[in-house]
Amino acid sequence: MPDNSKLKTKNSKLVATLLDWFATNARDLPWRRTRDPYAIWVSEIMLQQTQVKTVIPFWNRWMKELPTIEATAKAPSAKIHKLWEGLGYYTRVRNLQKAAQFIVEKHGGKFPEKFEDILALPGIGRYTAGAICSIAFNQPTPILDGNVIRVLTRLFGIGENPKEKATNARLWQLAKDLVGRAKNAKEKSSSPPSRPSRDTDSCSHLNQSLMELGALICTPRKAQCSICPVKKLCAAFKENRVDELPNLGKRETATARHFIAFAVESNGRFLVCQRPSGVVNAQLWEFPNVEVTGTKPHAAAVIQKLVGVKPKKIQPLRTVKHSITRYRITLEAVAVSLQKIPAKNGGVWKTPAQMRQLAFPSAHRQILARLSPTNA
Ligand code: ADE
Repeated sequence: MPDNSKLKTKNSKLVATLLDWFATNARDLPWRRTRDPYAIWVSEIMLQQTQVKTVIPFWNRWMKELPTIEATAKAPSAKIHKLWEGLGYYTRVRNLQKAAQFIVEKHGGKFPEKFEDILALPGIGRYTAGAICSIAFNQPTPILDGNVIRVLTRLFGIGENPKEKATNARLWQLAKDLVGRAKNAKEKSSSPPSRPSRDTDSCSHLNQSLMELGALICTPRKAQCSICPVKKLCAAFKENRVDELPNLGKRETATARHFIAFAVESNGRFLVCQRPSGVVNAQLWEFPNVEVTGTKPHAAAVIQKLVGVKPKKIQPLRTVKHSITRYRITLEAVAVSLQKIPAKNGGVWKTPAQMRQLAFPSAHRQILARLSPTNA
């Protein structure tokens, strides 16, 4: 058989097997119970960089508080940030609102169905537009994210780096061929008629089966090939190369950064500041902090500079370690007591109860939890 026709046969078998597998193995996730493009869009934005189990409560809360595009378009900035608090990468939520406002203005509040119109929305790239078109509208639009790249490089034994232009294009082409075949899978399928109708969900299910296989079986480490539905069709499995693929090249080395945050208290109120626009974690609230680059600064001197008065008492509070993109961050929090609220400060003074209404980045939220353990 010529190579091209072998590929066609393999891809048709893959599609049929994956659709069968997905029909009985798909997780029951809340956004899989709807065809509402808005709800699916929200789930896809939350799922960028965040795991399914983390997203579920956030998605449920969001849909309850802001059930429509109009509601999201009109919501106060503080509300959308608070609903996103803990998910990180807050540019996502600001773009979500910008896109909702655009849909209200330019599409009469109705989520567009055309791939190009969806791709034109803020915060939506080729993957997300493809996911929404296929999941909400059953269009044969391909998807390629980290999970799908892993699945496809292994199934097809692709050893080149998937970030390289030609390899990336090849992967998109494979994803397109598979979802295109899914469109016709109903006629070709031998599955019993009791199965859910395939003409209305085959593209949706094929794309989700690739995501699901990557999340549950074809995992980055310790892939569970023994229970994989498509192992017989998998080049990497046959050639014992599963652990080698995908070939992601050299990882960027992590950079360590060290910050000191000050929980400055006076009469039961704490000094907090809102981060400006255009920086990481924009519009979120935080305790005043400084980055330590050379020798560690003297806490009392920093406080003196910050609020213009000498602290009554300084003591260690807690250290929070976390990672953002390629930074490994250590945030060392100290508690500072002042005799009275000084005039100079550059922030606002809030009680713990008031602070809990605001959106803080996770590390600062953990400082807040230490200050007021109840309900934090
Ligand atoms: N990851 C990205 N999109 C997803 C979806 N719709 N379901 C599960 N995991 C996902």
